[in-house]
This record gives sequence, structure tokens and C-alpha cells, in this order.
Amino acid sequence: MTAQASTFAAAPVSDSAPHPCTIVIFGASGDLTARMLLPALYNLALDRRLPPRLSILCYARTKWTDEAFREEARKNVEKHSRRPIDPDVWDSFAAGIFYSYGGYDDPEGHDRLNERLREVEAERDTGGNRLYYLAVPPTTFIGIIEQLGRAQAQGKGGEGWSRVIVEKPFGVDLASARELNRAVHSVFDEDDVYRIDHYLGKETVQNILVFRFANGIMEPIWNRRYVDHVQITVSESLGVGSRGSYYNGSGALRDMLQNHIMQLLSLVAMEPPLAIDGRSVRNEKVKVLNAVRLFEDDEVAMATARGQYGPGWVAGEEVPAYHEEEGVPGGSQTETFAALRLFLDSWRWAGVPFYLRTGKRLPKRSTEIAVSFKPAPQLLFHDFVEKPHLEPNVLSIRIQPNEGISLKFLTKVPGSPPRMRPAAMDFLYGASFVAQAPSAYETLIMDALQGDATLFTRSDEVEAAWTIMERVLSGWSSMPPLELPNYEAGTWGPAAADELIERDGRQWRRL
Ligand code: BG6
Repeated sequence: MTAQASTFAAAPVSDSAPHPCTIVIFGASGDLTARMLLPALYNLALDRRLPPRLSILCYARTKWTDEAFREEARKNVEKHSRRPIDPDVWDSFAAGIFYSYGGYDDPEGHDRLNERLREVEAERDTGGNRLYYLAVPPTTFIGIIEQLGRAQAQGKGGEGWSRVIVEKPFGVDLASARELNRAVHSVFDEDDVYRIDHYLGKETVQNILVFRFANGIMEPIWNRRYVDHVQITVSESLGVGSRGSYYNGSGALRDMLQNHIMQLLSLVAMEPPLAIDGRSVRNEKVKVLNAVRLFEDDEVAMATARGQYGPGWVAGEEVPAYHEEEGVPGGSQTETFAALRLFLDSWRWAGVPFYLRTGKRLPKRSTEIAVSFKPAPQLLFHDFVEKPHLEPNVLSIRIQPNEGISLKFLTKVPGSPPRMRPAAMDFLYGASFVAQAPSAYETLIMDALQGDATLFTRSDEVEAAWTIMERVLSGWSSMPPLELPNYEAGTWGPAAADELIERDGRQWRRL
């Protein structure tokens, strides 16, 4: 097996080769396991990156045999893998898949699972190393953790290391996130807890650190002296699809802002870390979240906007209103769009607004971070300008799609009379690299196997992000209910979102 460094491991390659282990997946019959986890593990097998004798023990309520589950797994991998099945690789991969059944908080089911785990560990000589993966609805997290604690107390823990991957959402507010952290910490040390935010597994998100800290030219201008403002947009053209009942209890703020967008903000605004490792990077990220100025209730109306989509047209297709989607109750007040203007009370960013927005059923799918720079100190070219104002220099980091980075600057149009126009220096991943990027889940699972938590969120980060969101939610709940829907599907959100940024004399970027 070729030893590979973990994504950001500073350790020598030989130290970071993953150990044999058993991954125990709770939620084996769920969508996440079918669409993401098994295909990711299979693709790692295809690249020969998995540790020797890696075993996958899947657990769910359905009574399957190993054989029946392997068949099911194959169908799902065939359907969702980014590369086709290679029969030889599949056979050896599938030989390491096992199944056990039971309820998530059911002691009997867990006893059966533990017995099976022992057998698998002995048969495959995995040294007792265990990676538990909670790919289950959040309401079942604590029940599973308690059962893992019970097994540990009975001496049924592995002899090797035990780590746990917890899927999002991590809590629905600060109190529930704290409760979950307490439950997890009663069984696992924080260093062994891997909270997933799949945005951190995206290549382009990891590249924010490389772009900022491996290049000498960025840091000197990455601050309040040169940056006018920053915009982070995560727009989706899809609606809530079949996830209406989950989404309705969540909304855009909890579903996207608390986690993915706060992570993007942290990476863009953080100070250089002492080293690229889990501790140093997350120490700096959490400082950003702690620097966010918290809203008072009466500030929320001016600094935020929210909305819900009505019927409309997206990409040539007529789509229903949010409240007509499956699983969504009529009269729902859940927001499918949210925008915030935040300030960071830090030396680097004092006075620089960060505008954040996300929504469903917007005109296109696009995730972008745009750093807009202040104008040149003196306007020498008034007569050259076609538009009434000079366009600012903007550095845009396209997270997805058309992954890349571009820098917009003004340039002289050839010939006379003299005129200027914006042009762009553009870096496109697709044009520069031929290799297909691994999926976020491949990266994250591999990192967890190698014990590298850099791309996972720490308990203090999660709680800091909830602290910010709670102030927004509190402000919203103190305001009179909105007349919803307030934006048409296929448009860029409610008018209030435009007003939010236009009050500051700025505009949302056209994506
Ligand atoms: C998930 C949200 O975390 O992220 C979804 O629950 C959202 O509502 C998804 O659609 C977006 O992820 P991506 O990778 O498609 O941008």
C-alpha cells in the first residue's frame, strides 16, 4: 500500500499511514451512506488509499445479512460512485463489509453489534481501532453515544484508538449543541471527535488556506487598509425537494449559515496559524467567530434579511412555492433565504463589513467569496471611464461551480479615445489540473482515519457559531411575522436583501 499524507498533515508521510481499523456506520440504510459514504470508501479503495484490512461494519434497523447488504451496497456504489466499479477491487472491498441490525438506542441491538465487532476485529486483525460514523438523524445521536459509553464502561471498547465522526446538524441552537457536546465528551476526548462540515472537504475550500498563506503577495493587503468589504454567497437553484419536513424545522440560517458559511468566513478572515494542523488552524478559526459582533434585537432588522420562495421559473422549469413542497406545512414561516451583514471586532477587520447570503431557488447554483478592494487613492482617469463610477478590484474565489479564482482590474481599451474597462486574471481548476478532485467525503473520511482533524469543526467553533445565530433568531422572533412568500423562485431573494447592502452604498455581486 502506498503511504499518503493526510490532507494537511505536517507529519512525515510514513507517520501518517492509516492503521488497520473498523469503521462502524450507524445509519447504514440511509441516504447518506448510500449516496456518499460507501461511494467515498469505494473510491478510496480504488486509489489504494485505505489501510490494510479495513473493515466496515454497518448498522441499521433493517434485518439484512452481510450478503444482502453487500448486494445493496454494490447497487448504491454503481449508482453514485464518481468512477465505475472495477470487479476485482469491488470483491476485495466488499469482503470487508459486514452488517448488524438493531435500534439506535437499543441495548440489545448494541450488544449484538459489539459481539459482531469483536468477531470482525479478530478475523481481520484490525488491532481494535474503531472509527464510529454517526450517519443518522440528529435526534438519535445522544442515544447512540450513550450506548457507546455503556459498552466502554463494560470494557467492550477497542484496544486501539476510538474516534467518532458526527454528521451535521450539530444541534439546533446553542443549548442543544452544548448538550450534544457534553454527551459526546462523556465518552470521547475532543481530539477523537470529528464533526463533519462537508464544505471543509471541498478542494476549493481547502485551497483558501493555501492561497492565503502559501503566497506572499496576499497577506499584506488582506486587511482593513485595503479591503472595502467581503461578500460570501452560497446560492442554490434547487428547492427543498424531498427534505421539506427536515428543512422546515431548520431554515436557511441553521442549514447553511451556522455551519458552511461561518466556516468560509473563518477561513477567509483568520490570522495565519502557527502551523497547519488541527489545533493551530482551529485556534485561529474560532477567534474569528468570537470576534463577530453580536446583534442586539433592535439591530437585526437593519443588518439581516430573510425570505421564502414563491412559485416561479428556474432554468426554464416552472417550480412550486416553498409552502407547496412535500412535507412543508402551509403558512410556514421558515426562511429559505437569509442574508446578514456582520462586523468583526478585530484589529485586522475593524470596520469592514462582511455580507453573507444564501438561498434556495435562486437563479443559479454558485458559491463564491468575493473580496472587494478599496479604490486607488487618486482618480487620474476620470475621462477614461465609461460608467459613472470606477469598478473596484475584486478577488473572487469560486468554490463551485467553475472552480477557480479571478482578479478583476481595470484596463485600457486599445486605441483612442482612451477608455477603460474591467478585465480579469482568471485561474480555472479545470484548465490547470487534469486530475479529478476527490469528493469531500473521500477527503474527510481519509483524514479521520489518519487522525487529522484540521478539516473538522471543534466544539468551541460550533458553539461560537450558534452564539452568533441565536442573536439573529432572537431578533427575528421579536419582529412581526413576514408576509411570505416574499421572493419569486428564480430571482435573487427578497427586496430586503438588496436594501440591506444598498443602504451601505454597495451592491450584491451578479453571479
Ligand atoms: C447541506 C444542506 O448541508 O448542504 C443542504 O443541508 C444544501 O440544504 C447542501 O443543499 C449544499 O451542499 P453543496 O455541497 O451542494 O453546496
